[in-house]
Amino acid sequence: MKTAAVKPAFDVEEIRAQFPILKELVHGKPLVYFDNAATSQKPRRVIKAESAYYATINANVHRGVHTLSTKATEAQEAARETIRKHINAKHAHEVIFTSGTTASMNLAAFSLGQLLLKKSDEVLISGMEHHANIVPWQLACERHGAKLKVIPVTDSGELAFGSSDHLIDQFTDRTRILAISHVSNTLGTINPVKELIAEAKKRSIITVVDGAQAIAHLDVDVQDLGCDLYAFSGHKAYGPTGTGVLYGREELLERMPPWQGGGEMIDVVTFEKTTYAKLPFKFEAGTPHIAGIIGLGEAFRWMEDYDKAAMAKHEHALLEHATKELLTIDGLRIIGTAKERVGVISFVIDGVHHYDLGTLLDQQGIAVRTGHHCTQPLMEHFGVSGTTRASFACFNTREEVGAMVAATRKAVKMLR
Ligand code: ALA
Repeated sequence: MKTAAVKPAFDVEEIRAQFPILKELVHGKPLVYFDNAATSQKPRRVIKAESAYYATINANVHRGVHTLSTKATEAQEAARETIRKHINAKHAHEVIFTSGTTASMNLAAFSLGQLLLKKSDEVLISGMEHHANIVPWQLACERHGAKLKVIPVTDSGELAFGSSDHLIDQFTDRTRILAISHVSNTLGTINPVKELIAEAKKRSIITVVDGAQAIAHLDVDVQDLGCDLYAFSGHKAYGPTGTGVLYGREELLERMPPWQGGGEMIDVVTFEKTTYAKLPFKFEAGTPHIAGIIGLGEAFRWMEDYDKAAMAKHEHALLEHATKELLTIDGLRIIGTAKERVGVISFVIDGVHHYDLGTLLDQQGIAVRTGHHCTQPLMEHFGVSGTTRASFACFNTREEVGAMVAATRKAVKMLR
């Protein structure tokens, strides 16, 4: 387990002052940014770290002997170590840089598919997965003649497992991989991944966790979770777009074949045969997003400066306030009412289309996401074409929630 350090008290105004974009006006109104599940905003430190790389040490990594290349390499590898510590991986080489969760899941599905899947084997996902944790497995199953199976979702937006023993029913002696989201991007549900992983392990099933919506909001400890692979994006965790991580247990990564071929992932290349570089480079073909990775390291250092539990408590208070206030609007229904949730709230309103509501909220300076949120099967389960989703970050306030509720009330009057 990670050791706790003493952190300063949580002060939302002090945090807000670090996000330059929060001073922007949208349609003449102060920006209220509630689309953090799509991408979070970035503190000044992250923006500075990324631009400082270009301004002072821009060079390729792990390639040159010259000073700039050495400095760039050191800065990139410092980011890897920061992330290793943050997620409590055993080794820095278990942290693979990717362009985001989507790339991480494609790497995982391609490589594990090659390593493990045979005809009639099964991959188990859940009914609340993002398309990035569905389609790569479908592709892998098609390639290897395997089957994709799905853990059902309850009407409250939880996995149908536990008392009804559904999950156990879903495991068979052909199940090779369990790929599951830590937190649902659409519903905010926190899944009991530690328990699921423990069950999977008893059956020697490899576990892959999509942590895209968890990493900025929960204390993620990959050794405590016991997962084999854990994927996340940098840009949802106050870091730059185009950055992500696939954590993998060393022993498994050693056995997994590479996903992409190219420079830096090789040891020796001949036309007859290529041998591959050591971890993590075997999985990092081509020039990485060096500036972004340096920014990502800074984002994690920034998060480390705060008490994550206090951040999560603040976001949870916003969720509770939003839930209570939104439910006073006639005809509004919340989609996803799981007991354990992060600060994500999805809702539909009778007689109001989510796109129209999103547009009218934008005119009040309020940014929310509308649509299916890349979870079409989940929308089908709930019988809706889409929802309006507000997703909170540590810099959001109770007053902003009030502004969203008032603007929603006003929009509903206009649209009905
Ligand atoms: N996966 C991101 C979202 O949920 C884009 O909005």
